[in-house]
Amino acid sequence: MISEGKTKKVEDLGSEVILHFKDDITAGDGAKHDVLEKKGTICSEITSRLMKYLNEKGVHTMFLEYLPPNKIRAKKLKMIPLEVIVRFKKAGSFIRRYGGNEGEELPAPLVEFTYKNDQLHDPLMCVEHLEVLGITNREIALKIIEEAKKAGIHLKEFFEKHGLELWDMKFEFGIDENGQVCLGDEISPDTMRLRKSGEIFDKDIYRRDLGNPLEKYEVVLNLCQSISL
Ligand code: TYD
Repeated sequence: MISEGKTKKVEDLGSEVILHFKDDITAGDGAKHDVLEKKGTICSEITSRLMKYLNEKGVHTMFLEYLPPNKIRAKKLKMIPLEVIVRFKKAGSFIRRYGGNEGEELPAPLVEFTYKNDQLHDPLMCVEHLEVLGITNREIALKIIEEAKKAGIHLKEFFEKHGLELWDMKFEFGIDENGQVCLGDEISPDTMRLRKSGEIFDKDIYRRDLGNPLEKYEVVLNLCQSISL
């Protein structure tokens, strides 16, 4: 194992990695933590199918192969320590910072960067911060914005076809051995807000203590099973 995080373990195979999705779910910087049987299976299969979909749309992702029940074989990336958030509708930290009402449409897709640093509580970053603080260069930052918007728009279209609204999502990017900006980590209801006229299909069920979220995660998985592996 090269690393173990809150919800995943990473096994290093040289130029590839195996991501093991755990059954853990956390919220509020780890203040809330539970283990939900089958969560790792559900989130690894959703991530696999959505990354396969994005690969087919020309977005570069880490995804190589789904290894049932809860693993993914992926390209090894040099990860950039950023959470890249794409928003179509206002929610969560956007409203806390900039105001507005939950579910209001933004005039255009918005990409935000936060620096992955628990001690600093993941501060919001502009491209200038990334460059001056040496987190990444301007060219890569601009490429990430472009790829994040492209991936977000494709995912939004996919979920729309299946009757769900994609409000926002978090991506993590890395650089592959060819210097290509590549989407890594996870895409699942843990990392997106998915809604259908007030009904919640994402981790806000857990964040707000509304019960076991996996029933709704399974609905999302069923939709994603229309994407072949
Ligand atoms: P955001 O509104 O910034 O934060 P919060 O959920 O705490 O109100 O989240 C935007 C989207 O990104 C949302 O779908 C959750 C996801 N996200 C993560 O998956 N991990 C994270 O660490 C953060 C900050 C957001």
